[in-house]
Amino acid sequence: MSGVSIRNVRKRYGQVEVISDLSVDVRPGEFLVFVGPSGCGKSTLLRMIAGLESFEAGEIFIDGRVVNTLHPSERDIAMVFQDYALYPQMTVRRNMGFGLKMRRFAAPEIERRVLDAARILQIEHLLERRPRELSGGQRQRVAMGRAIVRNPKVFLFDEPLSNLDAKLRVDMRSEIKALHQRLKTTSVYVTHDQVEAMTMADRIVVLNGGEIEQIGTPLELYHQPKTRFVAGFLGSPAMNFLPVTAADGFIRLPGFGSLRLPETREGAAELGFRAERVRVVYEEASAHLLGTVAVLEPLGADTLVTVSCEGHRVVARLPGDCALRLSEAVRLAIDPDSAILFDAAGQRVS
Ligand SMILES: Nc1ncnc2c1ncn2[C@@H]1O[C@H](COP(=O)(O)OP(=O)(O)OP(=O)(O)O)[C@@H](O)[C@H]1O
Ligand SMILES: [Mg+2]
Repeated sequence: MSGVSIRNVRKRYGQVEVISDLSVDVRPGEFLVFVGPSGCGKSTLLRMIAGLESFEAGEIFIDGRVVNTLHPSERDIAMVFQDYALYPQMTVRRNMGFGLKMRRFAAPEIERRVLDAARILQIEHLLERRPRELSGGQRQRVAMGRAIVRNPKVFLFDEPLSNLDAKLRVDMRSEIKALHQRLKTTSVYVTHDQVEAMTMADRIVVLNGGEIEQIGTPLELYHQPKTRFVAGFLGSPAMNFLPVTAADGFIRLPGFGSLRLPETREGAAELGFRAERVRVVYEEASAHLLGTVAVLEPLGADTLVTVSCEGHRVVARLPGDCALRLSEAVRLAIDPDSAILFDAAGQRVS
């Protein structure tokens, strides 16, 4: 299996630096997800790996070999795009085999690989159809099939699920993951959808403005974000943030409350805590925040309760059967062990 190394790569469009000195290793067999807001450089980076985009400095290695000057067709990668890019006039069978035909594979070998891929993707019954006769999810599968038949060293995915409806997106998410577990092909997957990143990745790279904020497993990033950006980007609902001041081992919260943390650092400006780490309490002594219920969102197993506290909004994930009502006054307690402090620049200080 082949890894991909990106070493000190820089890319600019005109005067604008889109990727600034970025280095990351994709381990052999790994499913690595780049996630970040629109315009942060995800597609640019993927296109650089594919050889579709030049860059000013740095090196990209595939399987230990520098590919900077190699043509896309010589890099042994297969890319799945958001819009699938299928040939409308060709059948599914020909769409899937076309890349191999261009590479002068023998017809029986093409047929064997197409049938193999069709079986894996469960689209054998669609082989004689044309793309317009397929649903969105089926087209997506054909696009995947076209990548699989090549048996490439690396798969590159650029938001391949973003044109599908919500339900299908969830189904295809687990199918792509199952496919990776089966084929174990090194994969680089780009998305702006943090749920996709969390659920699919072996490791996630969070990109912000062309720079890496943090690299780690989904749960590392969820529980130990190094920056406010990562903390706020991953997880649904998003992490709660409150302005605080720190002194004498305590941090002061908006309103009456203060919180003793295992360690309190100088420079703390904001406290971050997850919705599942907030409880409703009845005794004033154990409360950190006082507020009123502003929004109730029952999800079945849980209910998300947005509480307005001193002009700030705090979301708590409470049991589905919680009996709170709108406008009701509530006291909240935050679990101090999982709370995180950030300085004014958004860097973690605790
Ligand atoms: N050909 C181009 N010429 C000039 N600027 C470009 C070009 N392509 C992309 N950019 C700019 O480079 C930045 C990164 O673009 P890129 O397409 O990599 O973002 P992205 O992270 O994939 O965003 P999205 O999530 O919206 O797809 C953006 O600010 C974009 O406007
Ligand atoms: Mg993009």
